[in-house]
Amino acid sequence: MSTEKNHVRINEDYSPYNDYAIAEWNKFQAEPQRQEALLKATENINVRNVLDIGCGAGQEMLPFVARGAKAVGIDVAPEVGQIGRELFTAENFGERVEFVRAAGHALPFADDTFDVLICRIALMYMNIKSALREVERVSRTGGVFFLKYHAPSYYLSKFSQGLKNGDILSSVHATRCLLAGCSYQKTGRQSFNKLTASGETFITKKILQRELKSSALKVIGEMPDTNSQTPSLIITKE
Ligand SMILES: C[S@@+](CC[C@H](N)C(=O)[O-])C[C@H]1O[C@@H](n2cnc3c(N)ncnc32)[C@H](O)[C@@H]1O
Repeated sequence: MSTEKNHVRINEDYSPYNDYAIAEWNKFQAEPQRQEALLKATENINVRNVLDIGCGAGQEMLPFVARGAKAVGIDVAPEVGQIGRELFTAENFGERVEFVRAAGHALPFADDTFDVLICRIALMYMNIKSALREVERVSRTGGVFFLKYHAPSYYLSKFSQGLKNGDILSSVHATRCLLAGCSYQKTGRQSFNKLTASGETFITKKILQRELKSSALKVIGEMPDTNSQTPSLIITKE
């Protein structure tokens, strides 16, 4: 791996996970407004500990780590941390960041540990109810949780793109996620069978409000990068 003005070049045979992680790191570095938005949304809290759930390279932790916070990225991927450790070390923040292989529904941390929690484009792959309970448990009161997820229109677009590009598998996958989402929205239960891509589902504000109804997590705003396909919410633990 080599770096050039905050841009990391891929020059080895990385796995698709690592390629994706580097691409997301580079995008984040190229969009300073994303870093500014994270800092603005947390300006009223003392950020000491940060957790990124389904972290990839963990780039969203960067602005907090750069201001002295400690951070942990967790991910189920076997490659978790391979790239993230190198990237944070190249920025001289290697000692403030840890990567752990773990699942969102069973976070290996004590209650009330984190001031900032991030789950970017990852909740749809998890047991959503359990993962949100875990976020509530490990967040400190007054902590901020950044959640970005796939809405139905993301999968609708993926479906039509697949048809347009002759990528039938992509359209089939999108259909399964749409069916899973419709069932989840209607019944309140997420299906984890093969028919529904092992649980992957769209999320709607209605689904989210229902999951958060009896929890201390409350939606308090949206981030500037929010859009109809991938809403980006600010949630706090009251
Ligand atoms: C689309 S990527 C997003 C990565 C990163 N958050 C980003 O924005 O660059 C989704 C990530 O969620 C992880 N993931 C999927 N299921 C998970 C689970 N049950 N627990 C933790 N991580 C999970 C994947 O391995 C992958 O790294």
